[in-house]
Amino acid sequence: MTRPVISSTGLFTPAESVSNAELVASYNAWADLWNADHRAEIEAGTATPKTHSSVEFIEKASGIKSRYVMNKSGVIDPGIMAPRLPERPNEEISILAEIAVKAANEALSRAGRSGSDVDAVLCAASNMQRAYPAMAVEVQDAIGAKGFAFDMNVACSSATFGIQTAADFIRSGSARSVLMVNPEICSGHLNFTDRDSHFIFGDVATAVLIEAEDMAPSGSWTILGTNLKTQFSNNIRNNFGFLNRTAPETVGAPDKLFIQEGRKVFREVVPMVASMIQSELDRLGMSASDLKRMWLHQANANMNRLIAEKVLGREASETESPTVLDQYANTSSAGSIIAFHLHSGDFMPGDRGLICSFGAGYSAGTVFVQKSA
Ligand code: COA
Repeated sequence: MTRPVISSTGLFTPAESVSNAELVASYNAWADLWNADHRAEIEAGTATPKTHSSVEFIEKASGIKSRYVMNKSGVIDPGIMAPRLPERPNEEISILAEIAVKAANEALSRAGRSGSDVDAVLCAASNMQRAYPAMAVEVQDAIGAKGFAFDMNVACSSATFGIQTAADFIRSGSARSVLMVNPEICSGHLNFTDRDSHFIFGDVATAVLIEAEDMAPSGSWTILGTNLKTQFSNNIRNNFGFLNRTAPETVGAPDKLFIQEGRKVFREVVPMVASMIQSELDRLGMSASDLKRMWLHQANANMNRLIAEKVLGREASETESPTVLDQYANTSSAGSIIAFHLHSGDFMPGDRGLICSFGAGYSAGTVFVQKSA
């Protein structure tokens, strides 16, 4: 059986960013406008006034300090509170495919490949821009790849599910060079008028090239083992979908964007992920001390601290469990890949690490890797 490796990764970071202070200022201005508009209802006791958001709360509750976005002006305009990304003609590459291609080009060039070396493309992300044609097929066309392409959505776990899918293609021989892209324009599904969650997400794209070991470039990453898990939960949900037009009165309701029961998510997902990592370590005949680093999903700094602590039996250092969400916020499936991309340059041959995701579904995935010579 051919062994799969990660040959390279790529990262596209949007040019614009929004600090917590800028985000809170726009939210508070929106809340003041809303309160003024609903003054009569508030005075009659039929509406609750909106209270201000705070920079201190956001940083303490989540660890997020800033986020990159594809369109800053719309997001921070109290009269809009959403990104403004104009529709493009069908003849032009769509924006989700465009950022995926930017990340893909970096991954390909780091591995010394061109698009024509790729024989399968997976677009694995929380939100696809349209129903069809698949985003992955557009990316395949844009980079000149051969073979086949398709989209897959497992929310925040899309990338690890994509890596296992690609690894299985390599193991079975149905492809030899698989490009997986994770374009995440999370600002599109974020409700910037919801005080509980308006700070959570950012935009980015990542790419991972998974290939057969016999064609891997030097310095690639052997995939030691992958494991996936899902367990149904309504605690993170987004009801946006093509059937919304069959109940037009609900279009625009808050449940057609990201909503969550953050505390329940925290409570339920931390033990699920920690025990999954432990079982997979056991299955692979490894212990936590064999891991030089864990590149965890980047949703919440406190969650990551607890998961790492449960796995290691002590608090993890920043080197052992690096954080990127302070700068990027939660970028859904891309988060653990950004961490891996930015914090793996010091690995020596034989060093081992873990890419781990978790999120809506619930879903969770582990990818154990070892740096090769
Ligand atoms: N500014 C100021 N205060 C805020 C606030 C804001 N933006 N949002 C909420 N608060 C207040 C609440 O009103 C509440 O006040 P109260 O105690 O007077 O009622 C208090 O802060 C605590 O709110 P809560 O929502 O319980 O906060 P939390 O400590 O649970 O943190 C999350 C919220 C969302 C950051 C946290 O639960 C979390 O990250 N959970 C995991 C989420 C996750 O990873 N989701 C995955 C998506 S893929």
